[in-house]
Amino acid sequence: MTKTPENKIIVAIDGYSSSGKSTMAKELAAKIGYRYIDSGAMYRAVTLFAMEHEMIGSDGSVDVAALSEAVNRIKIDFILTPQGQHTLLDSIDVEHRIRSLEVSSHVSPVAAIHAVRKALTARQQHFGTQKGIVMDGRDIGTTVFPNAEMKVFVTASPETRAQRRFKELTENGTPAKYEDVLANVIERDRIDETRAESPLRKAPDAEVLDNSCMTHAEQSAWLLDMYHKALTKADERNY
Ligand code: DC
Repeated sequence: MTKTPENKIIVAIDGYSSSGKSTMAKELAAKIGYRYIDSGAMYRAVTLFAMEHEMIGSDGSVDVAALSEAVNRIKIDFILTPQGQHTLLDSIDVEHRIRSLEVSSHVSPVAAIHAVRKALTARQQHFGTQKGIVMDGRDIGTTVFPNAEMKVFVTASPETRAQRRFKELTENGTPAKYEDVLANVIERDRIDETRAESPLRKAPDAEVLDNSCMTHAEQSAWLLDMYHKALTKADERNY
């Protein structure tokens, strides 16, 4: 039987926006020496590209044909900087810009486009060919890596998540109103859960983590424990 390369596995962390999954995923990856991939950043980068190329109208409508045609040519990379992992769009560091409320408010319709999902899913799967990755998103455990050895579905109340996003924006110096952030969180949940393709959904074999009332330390310990269990299970399967 084939052995998992260097006993590494794929960790898929899905969940609602601002549920804290990126922080958790990033920390876990650093602890276990895996590569971290933020799939949401890829959808955000494509959205910024569409905004910059006038493919999003003033009413928020997306030029689906133009973006579908362009998406395979968009270059998205990740680099490690002293401030953490940054996203590059066509070789330009856009980490700060892809987190703006403007990108957040256009990203869900962009992420619902078939050609965009197809292109980004293929790139995400490519990152996992050697295993040893932690990827977070909405459909990692269901569509991108349905056979991932470890799957977590993270959730928290919309108010808790809006508070977190609001804090993040204000700390970054981005002006925002809490009510707008909450409305954006609720609207993105609705679009992400109801879109036809790869809707946000818990994989049947994912473990749920509701972190509304958990401390940071409790979440980290829970996740690391799950990782060790998943690794042991994968090793047993491989022998
Ligand atoms: O995790 P995030 O808020 O940065 O994600 C941005 C958007 O991208 C979110 O509204 C849904 C979409 N997304 C997706 O559809 N599939 C993924 N795997 C990751 C993100």
